[in-house]
Amino acid sequence: AKVRHAVPMLSLGNIFEDAEVEEFCQRVRRFLGMAADAPLAITAEPKIDGLSCSLRYVDGDLVQAATRGDGREGEDVTANVRTIREIPHRLHEGPRGVLDVRGEVYMTKAGFAGVNDRQAAAGKPLFANPRNSAAGSLRQLDPAITASRPLQFFAYAWGQADVEPAETQMGMVEAFRSYGLPVNPLMKRCTTAEELLAHYRFIEARRAALPYDIDGVVYKVDSIALQVRLGFVSRTPRWAVAHKFPAEKATTVLRKIEIQVGRTGALTPVARLDPVTVGGVVVTNATLHNEDEIKRKDIREGDT
Ligand code: IVH
Repeated sequence: AKVRHAVPMLSLGNIFEDAEVEEFCQRVRRFLGMAADAPLAITAEPKIDGLSCSLRYVDGDLVQAATRGDGREGEDVTANVRTIREIPHRLHEGPRGVLDVRGEVYMTKAGFAGVNDRQAAAGKPLFANPRNSAAGSLRQLDPAITASRPLQFFAYAWGQADVEPAETQMGMVEAFRSYGLPVNPLMKRCTTAEELLAHYRFIEARRAALPYDIDGVVYKVDSIALQVRLGFVSRTPRWAVAHKFPAEKATTVLRKIEIQVGRTGALTPVARLDPVTVGGVVVTNATLHNEDEIKRKDIREGDT
């Protein structure tokens, strides 16, 4: 069934360059009418490569779970989410009234490998990466299948809340932890762009060793009151931004150029590649778009 989110689930704007971190901090200060050198607390935490989920607790009891969907309306996945061991069915010190806890459902790299081993043994199709595996596992019609998959959760925001859990992002994480919700231990409160960048580098250096996939670092203005003042531009908050890691690159050999005939008769040249793993997926084909593009790039069979 469809579930309408009481408070929409928004997405984040992306930045890619170091200089954009300082720009983000200055944009926030300017909007708030603060001096360029005024102290401003901003948190930095890993951007988890999973799928976002909203958990509705009423008087401390888990009553509903929904996927993000288009941000306004998601799918009811309550029965499946109840099988995720890390997600409490009842919050400690249960906050009164409605509390929508938002966060990321994900699968560890080891959990994903185990799922694919079992898929292979059963002659079933493999998942491309932990994210797809988590998404496929959560959107099962049979909760028994979801229960057999090693799904985990990090809480990082709230939607509707009759009693607001905290006045800051940092306070929220502490409140969530005291409720028994899993929170990411790598969140840090910073006060300058330099500190944010240093924490970005710290997380980036640990990326490969982390047990789960991440694709960047999220910066959030720490004060909830300031977040409210900053508000949103269309679907993204002014008070937060995702600093993405550079896209992974890999080298492989183009074995053959084939012409694919589409459903409408459109012809598209496709590169058949030696399989290469990049960004957690095995790439064996790539579109070459059209003949002009092939000429412009001088793409030939046998090229690396
Ligand atoms: S905060 C209003 N924190 O990234 C913004 N999102 O591109 C609320 N995500 O849909 C989101 N890790 O699925 C936030 N630590 C994190 C996150 C995170 C992953 C995802 C989330 C969201 C998407 C936005």
